Amino acid sequence: MQNPPSVQELLIRRTPGHSLEQAFYTSDAIFQMDLEQIFYREWLFAIPAAQLVKKGAYATHQVGAYRVILVRGQDNEIRAFHNTCRHRGSVLCKASGGQVAKLVCPYHQWTYELDGRLLWARDMGPEFDASKHGLKTVHCRQVAGLVYICLADVPPDFDDFAQTVHPYLEVHDLENAKVAHQSTIVENGNWKLVWENNRECYHCAGNHPSLCRTYPEDPSITGVSADGTFPDKVEAHFTRMEAGGAPSRFKMAQDGQYRVARMPLLDGAQSYTMDGKIAVQKRLGRVPYLDAGTLLQFHYPTTWNHFLTDHSITFRVTPISATQTQVTTTWLVHKDAVEGVDYDLKNLTTVWEHTNDEDRQVVEDNQQGINSPAYQPGPYSPTHEDGVIQFANWYCDTIGRRLGTDKIAAE
Ligand code: FES
Ligand SMILES: [Fe+2]
Repeated sequence: MQNPPSVQELLIRRTPGHSLEQAFYTSDAIFQMDLEQIFYREWLFAIPAAQLVKKGAYATHQVGAYRVILVRGQDNEIRAFHNTCRHRGSVLCKASGGQVAKLVCPYHQWTYELDGRLLWARDMGPEFDASKHGLKTVHCRQVAGLVYICLADVPPDFDDFAQTVHPYLEVHDLENAKVAHQSTIVENGNWKLVWENNRECYHCAGNHPSLCRTYPEDPSITGVSADGTFPDKVEAHFTRMEAGGAPSRFKMAQDGQYRVARMPLLDGAQSYTMDGKIAVQKRLGRVPYLDAGTLLQFHYPTTWNHFLTDHSITFRVTPISATQTQVTTTWLVHKDAVEGVDYDLKNLTTVWEHTNDEDRQVVEDNQQGINSPAYQPGPYSPTHEDGVIQFANWYCDTIGRRLGTDKIAAE
């Protein structure tokens, strides 16, 4: 029997403009490679800073085999640590989040300060040096109230991304946000299918009746402009928004890892609600228009976002297995907005609760069909799926670079 083709061979024989070969969506070995070559190396969106309100607030997160604690220190800094005790390695924080004075290991109660220093360890003998047993840190950076982590020993550059998107995000005032609602779902599909689905709106009209009340399926709005041009209507939107102090023009990273652009919603629509009106009367941010549309920002491999004139929504993608992906959605509103007075939670969340569930369904259907031996890569629509082509290229280029396939292909 022939050996299955290697990842390098699969990348080299890939048909451009087509979905990937089956193994990229089903193979445990390729899933492990994705973790090692992408998720363990790139900057990953973790949480909005607003999720950790008080000193001692923490949240845990798991990416592949790594478990991470994010905690707000006594100095108000948010730090990230590996969630493994420096004694015999127990998980320190088991809950998804909470509020603590110190980080105390449940096993033998080694006790750590919120900045990771080991404060107390019982009967460890005179030679024991507590200063050598602080928690291991995880790289942690913030951009305009969004917390990113990197599991690599030496993280890639973050500044280029942070400097590019900061002015766009800053007007949304996420530092004065609070979490109005958070939902976590598991989609039975490979993480790349979650992204492929996110990067096009070819499926919107047939699947998203709630979202389509306000969000245009127009590919010039939802996709990526290959030549950097946009229809006059979109250009006029950029110009008007920027005149009002809200950076809006489309920008994309050179390597395609992130994109930011403020796009109009359908005429007359203000926010993602069933009636199209703003959901929160006490608005989050300083965008001076009700019809500002949505600031779209993605950063591969973990986040896409919608920043609106009244509230913001962050999405976090976490791979669980070759065919399972967790998606966490967080609705942020102004910290002084009062539920029941300034906003109704159902009105705020209905559109994306529906949309997430509809996306889960299509991703799961996609995975089921791909699992069939009869599956073969099919062509992406150049009109409606240029964003998917862009994602697939980013993925293949990134993996190819890391495996050295780009050099093989060029020879
Ligand atoms: S493993 Fe944490 S105190 Fe022993
Ligand atoms: Fe969708």
